[in-house]
Order: sequence, then C-alpha cells, then structure tokens
Amino acid sequence: MPHTWTPESWRAKPIQQQPQYPDAAHLEKVERTLAGFPPLVFAGEARELRRQFAEVSEGRAFLLQGGDCAESFAEFSTLKIRDTFKVLLQMAIVMTFAAGCPVVKVGRMAGQFAKPRSANDETIDGVTLPAYRGDIVNGIGFDTASRVPDPERLLQAYHQSTASLNLLRAFASGGFADVHQVHQWNLDFIANSALAERYSQLADRIDETLAFMRACGLDSAPQLREASFFTAHEALLLNYEQAFVRRDSLTGQYYDCSAHMLWIGDRTRQPDGAHVEFLRGVGNPIGVKVGPTTSSEDLLRLLDILNPDNDPGRLNLIVRMGAGKVGEHLPRLIRTVQNEGRKVLWSSDPMHGNTIKASSGYKTRDFAQILGEVKEFFQVHQAEGSYAGGIHIEMTGQNVTECIGGARPISEAGLADRYHTHCDPRLNADQSLELAFLIAETLKQARA
Ligand code: PEP
Ligand code: CO
Repeated sequence: MPHTWTPESWRAKPIQQQPQYPDAAHLEKVERTLAGFPPLVFAGEARELRRQFAEVSEGRAFLLQGGDCAESFAEFSTLKIRDTFKVLLQMAIVMTFAAGCPVVKVGRMAGQFAKPRSANDETIDGVTLPAYRGDIVNGIGFDTASRVPDPERLLQAYHQSTASLNLLRAFASGGFADVHQVHQWNLDFIANSALAERYSQLADRIDETLAFMRACGLDSAPQLREASFFTAHEALLLNYEQAFVRRDSLTGQYYDCSAHMLWIGDRTRQPDGAHVEFLRGVGNPIGVKVGPTTSSEDLLRLLDILNPDNDPGRLNLIVRMGAGKVGEHLPRLIRTVQNEGRKVLWSSDPMHGNTIKASSGYKTRDFAQILGEVKEFFQVHQAEGSYAGGIHIEMTGQNVTECIGGARPISEAGLADRYHTHCDPRLNADQSLELAFLIAETLKQARA
C-alpha cells in the first residue's frame, strides 16, 4: 500500500531538475500568495477532459496537443496566442473533416513555462552560469543577474497564464472558433502556398456541408459555434503546482487547478521520484513522456502508481523515441500495456527525439524526421492492434524558421531568418498544417 498522499508529500522524495533559490523565505511567501489566488481551471473541466481522453483511448476520437516548447514573458501578445490557436483549429478541422474523427484540442499554453535542461550550467567563452530553466524560474540572458532563480517570476507566470487562458476561452466560445469561420483561420503568410490551396478546398467543402445542414434545419448545434479547448503544461516546478492544488467541493478529490492536464517529462518520470508522487494524488488527466530508456518494468510501475483504477481517461503515454527508433522500442511497451489489460491513451511526440544541431549552431529538427516518426508510430500501433490516439507537437502560428524542411522548405542557412524560440525549435503554421493533412489521411485509412 503506498503511503498517504498530501499536496506536499512530494517534498520527501528525490527530485530532479529543480532550481536552487537563494532566498527560501521569499519562495515560501510567493507560494502562500499563489495558494490564495483563484485557480486557473475548475475541477469539473478537468473531469470533462478525462471523459474525452477516455473516448480517445477507446478509439473514438483523436488528441491534438500543441503549442510552444516554452512560453515566454517577452513573447506574450494577443496575436501570438490568436495565431497559435488558429493553427490548432485548422489542424483540428482538417482531421475532423478529412478523417471523420472528433478531435480533442489541448494547448501547450497558458502555463508552459518551466523547462528541464540537459545540463545544470551553460558555458560560453569560458564563462559558466546556471542554465536557463524557463521564464518562470530565471532569465534567458547570459549574465549572472538574469540567471538567478527569482520567486517573483512565479507570480508573473500566473498572471500571464490567467490572461492567456481568458483570451483562449473568449476565442473558443465567443464566435472566433465558430466552424462557419473556417476560411478566416487561414494565416496571411501561408495564403499563397499549395497547402493553403488544399486547405481552402477543404474549407469550401465544409461551407457546402454547412449550407446543406442549414437547409435541412440542422445547423444550430452549439458544437458548431464553439470549440472545446483545454490547457496543459509540464508539471515541473512543483512549488508552483502545489500552490494550485484545491479540493473539489463536489467530489472531495484533489485537483491541480493550474491547467486541465499536466504531464511528467522524460527526465522526471522516476517511479520513486517527486514528480510521480505529486501527480498521483491529483484527479486531472495526466501525461507521461515515454522515451527510448523507458523499461517495461518502469512503465508498469508508473501505470500502477498513476492509474491504479485503470481508468481509460486518466493516463496519456506520450511516446518520444526519435525517427528510426519507434520500431525498436514501442512494440514491447504496447505489449506490456496489452498483456496487463491496461487502458491508456497513446500519443506521439515526434519532436523531442529528433533535435539536432545545424552546422550553423542552431538547435533544429528536420521536418522529414518528424513526419517519419509519426508514420512509424501509426505503423507500429497498426501492427500491434493498438490505437494510435494522438499527436503532441511544438508549434506556433508565427512564421518562424526553426525546423528545417517542409513543403516550402527551410534550409539550414534559412534558420537564422526568424529563429525566435526560447527553447526548442517549433513547427511553423505551414509545417503544422502539412502534418495535419498527413495524419488525416492516415487516420482515414485506419478507420476505413
Ligand atoms: C518538452 O515537452 O518540452 C520536453 C522537455 O519533453 P521531454 O520531457 O519529452 O524531453
Ligand atoms: Co521542448
């Protein structure tokens, strides 16, 4: 029997990837302030997402999860939020219409600030400073003052998250996401591409369908006028997450009300570690990244700890192996899940196993590798008789040049043009839409 869970029981466990705050009293004061603030989401919404996750696990829907690798304080604007939301809507409508499959939409947004790093320090020209851990922790500037972890940043992350979520809720239910606006979601900079043409044709067919439904008196369903949209981030900085643990007055269950869904990263998924301990006690749907080093034994322990009731909407396994490695590692993990009769939502993160360094020094990803990993993910699931249920990507609605390749190819030399990410390279709108069409085709075949 595991010991009793409390919102702070994680503090007694070994913990990875945490900043060293110079002033513990300051941190505690901020934690108390946050704990007194209104939560960002309501437990009932997290339960609704669990219900939708169960639909995905059982093969009746598809999960689309996307957004920045790291949100930042500097890049906080209406247009950035709106454009990322637009691309997510476009991707979702492509999959829903072309593949006839409902899509559950979750943003890596409104709280995705804390970053795990491969090294604790960074050295440039002989100077060594603590690594940048995301704007919720310290500053990206390479100087001593910026890199000191500052608790005030937790407050700023909270306020930015509430404003972002407020706007997203307004977009989702205020008319912007009305499917009759399907043509308006196209972004100007992709307007002249072959992909835009393809999207435009699909939008024309949707228009026709809507006109037909209207003629039949069938177009008043609220689902056509509003989108349901959820938020998620990596639950990395547990001082922040703990401050949002609230006991739901309806069920008595604890929820982490900083986002609808939280996930555990590939570097913090130790079954005996603090992150697993924290998330086992909250009722949200949760994700766990699954990489090449995930053993079947560890996976089973994680399933036992995080989903003891085997609820089909509780757990999203986010597979991030790298192109060319899915066939080697995923079959044994799928078999472990199947042999034990476990219910999970499998999704593919084709980003984090495919990060490379361009000759120019930029951290990048090759779009061909990203597509390759997604295809392998679908093939392995097909071969194992399991359901490939979702995609988890780093993307933006901005016209960035961060990943090489794509239909309007970005070259290594072109990376310098508009490389803006605060952490990992993201797909731009073109590349995201191209990926959505590929997934739609694959889903359509699989469902036929
Ligand atoms: C991420 O999703 O940004 C991330 C760090 O992923 P992973 O934990 O899979 O490396
Ligand atoms: Co990332």
